[in-house]
Amino acid sequence: MQPLANITPLKAPPRAGSIQVSNVGQVFRSSKQDVVALENISIDIKPGRFVVLVGPSGCGKSTLLMMMAGLRQQTSGSVLVNGAPIDKPDPDRVGVVFQEASLFPWLTAEENVEFPLTLRGTPKAERRAKAQDALKLVGLDGFGKQHPHELSGGMKQRVSIARGLVQDPPVLLMDEPFAALDEQTRMTMGDELLRIWGATGKTVVFVTHSLTEAVYLADEVLVMSARPGQIVDRLQVTLPRPRTYDMLSGDVFGTLRDRIWRHIRKSA
Ligand SMILES: Nc1ncnc2c1ncn2[C@@H]1O[C@H](COP(=O)(O)OP(=O)(O)O)[C@@H](O)[C@H]1O
Ligand SMILES: [Mg+2]
Repeated sequence: MQPLANITPLKAPPRAGSIQVSNVGQVFRSSKQDVVALENISIDIKPGRFVVLVGPSGCGKSTLLMMMAGLRQQTSGSVLVNGAPIDKPDPDRVGVVFQEASLFPWLTAEENVEFPLTLRGTPKAERRAKAQDALKLVGLDGFGKQHPHELSGGMKQRVSIARGLVQDPPVLLMDEPFAALDEQTRMTMGDELLRIWGATGKTVVFVTHSLTEAVYLADEVLVMSARPGQIVDRLQVTLPRPRTYDMLSGDVFGTLRDRIWRHIRKSA
C-alpha cells in the first residue's frame, strides 16, 4: 500500500481570500508600438497573507493590481480570486485603495465610504451602518460628518481604506497608499494597517517603493524586474509580529532590505 503522504489529496476548495495568478502577461497594443508590460507572472497567495510587491517604476505593479481587481484583463494567463476568474470589479471579493485618497470633495467622509454601496442601491440605513463600522475600524469614529478638506492626509487615507473595506471583501489591494504622506504619518499608518489586518484576517496585496515599509509590513515580499515585469525574487519575512520600530535597525531587517535593494539596483 502507498504511504499516505504520497497520495495526492483531492483539491480542497480555495478559501475566501486566495489569489492565483498563473502565467500572466500583459501587452499594451497601440498603433505605434506594442509594450510588453508583464511577462509570465505566477503568484499564489494564501488567504490572510500580507504580500508586498516592490519593483522599479514602470515595471507593471499597478497593472498587476488592476488585473487582480478586475479593472483590466490580462492578455494571457489567468487570475483567480477565491478560486474564480475576476473579469470585472467585484467589491464583494476585492477592495481597492489607491495612492491618492481620491475622495469626492463634496461628500462627507461617511458618504464617501458609503459610495460603493450607493452605487449598488443598498438601502440608506444599511449603508450608513456599514460605513460607520468601517470608519470605526480605521479609527475615525466620530469623523463621519467631516468633509475631506477638513481632514489631514493620513485621515483622508483612512477614509479611503474604510471605503475599500465597507463591503467586507476578503481581499484588499493597495497601490502605494501611503506614498503621499510624511514619514511619521506613514509609519503610523503602517501600524494602523497591520492592526486592521490582524483584526480582520484579510488578504492584503500592497505595492510600495519603500523597502523599509515593504519588510516592516510583509509576510512575503515579491520583487519585480524592470519592464517587462517579472518576479525575480520572493522573500519570506519571518520577523515576529507585532512588528516594532526596534526591528528596523536589526540584522534580519537589514539583510532582507539589502537583498531587495540589490535586485532593484540591477534593474535601474
Ligand atoms: N493603459 C496603458 N497603455 C499603454 N501602456 C501602459 C498603460 N498602462 C501602463 N502602461 C505601461 O505599462 C508599464 C507598467 O506600468 P505600471 O503598471 O503603471 O507600472 P508601475 O506601477 O510598476 O510603475 C509602463 O511602461 C507603462 O507605461
Ligand atoms: Mg504604479
